[in-house]
Amino acid sequence: MKVNNKQYRTVWMEGQSIFMIEQNLLPFEFRIFEAKNYAEACMAIKTMIVRGAGAIGATAGYALAQAALEAKSENYHVYIKKAKQDIENTRPTARNLFTATERVYKAALISPQEAVKEAQCIADEDAETSRTIGKYGNELIKSGYGIETHCNAGWLAFVDHGTALSPIYQAHKAGKDIFVYVDETRPRNQGAKLTAWELKNENIPHTIIPDNAGAHLMAQGKINIIITGADRIAANGDTANKIGTLEKAIAANYFGIPFYIAAPRATFDMNCPTGKEIIIEERSQDEVLYQIGMNQNNKAEKVLVSAPGSSAINPAFDVTPAELIAGIITEKGIIKPTSEEIKKIF
Ligand code: MRU
Repeated sequence: MKVNNKQYRTVWMEGQSIFMIEQNLLPFEFRIFEAKNYAEACMAIKTMIVRGAGAIGATAGYALAQAALEAKSENYHVYIKKAKQDIENTRPTARNLFTATERVYKAALISPQEAVKEAQCIADEDAETSRTIGKYGNELIKSGYGIETHCNAGWLAFVDHGTALSPIYQAHKAGKDIFVYVDETRPRNQGAKLTAWELKNENIPHTIIPDNAGAHLMAQGKINIIITGADRIAANGDTANKIGTLEKAIAANYFGIPFYIAAPRATFDMNCPTGKEIIIEERSQDEVLYQIGMNQNNKAEKVLVSAPGSSAINPAFDVTPAELIAGIITEKGIIKPTSEEIKKIF
């Protein structure tokens, strides 16, 4: 994707450093963060400097490659094993992170150079599968469509192109007249901050809607299709995605609106039989109680937006049962969310 006419990936590796777009500063400031070692990369994933299933997967792969480069030969195996655990302890839900650490660990057992090669391969695959998902997803979009999306499954959430937004980019490129309704996605506002920023950057007509406005717009006939990303898809098609996705799927089914998930095979967890076994990350209550915005002096500011003294719960994801999903857009085509169809793409 281009920002200020320059081509960027969301995350990349140069020498022993990982570079990533600092997503906590967007949309107010565009800055690149450098993680000089795997510990800094872990911190970047945990604090969501880098976020989104594909982008944290790529970062996790690079981080383990970094660890392999850092390790001394006398304790190489102990060091990379500990690094794998540390990286996997950063965020529990997105399957892509574990897909990446498992692949890079195997390569690191051969040599640090093989680890770097494998990490690069994961990042390249992520960009390519996202592009292909866009091609398949575009077939679902007709000119005149209102499309609702939740959270950010755009290029910022992957290495490039994105998943849920990739079909939208291709539809727009093909000259289709589309309009995107962007759920703000409380509490961290990935929709209002990141998806809206991406769509504006690509000149795609859109508007931000409050999280609780989706059903109302569906009732008014403004939404023709919903496309969201996924963080982990169980073997039976149950899908974990950003908190609030389940409500959209229920409302869409009530109104007969097709609800699609867009995700690469790296997001599927074939060892997880159903959505019930997916671990849902719990994040700090501060993300609910406070909001971060830009003040009049162009400085980022954190303000309390809730009753002082009240507590909050903050589950970061929910699980949409397979029966509410019209189809999953993958790099192997659009499949029904059933165990049989899922098995076929592996
Ligand atoms: O907590 P985040 O921002 O890392 O959440 C992950 C997501 O971006 C979403 O759930 C997304 O819709 C699927 S992953 C691209």
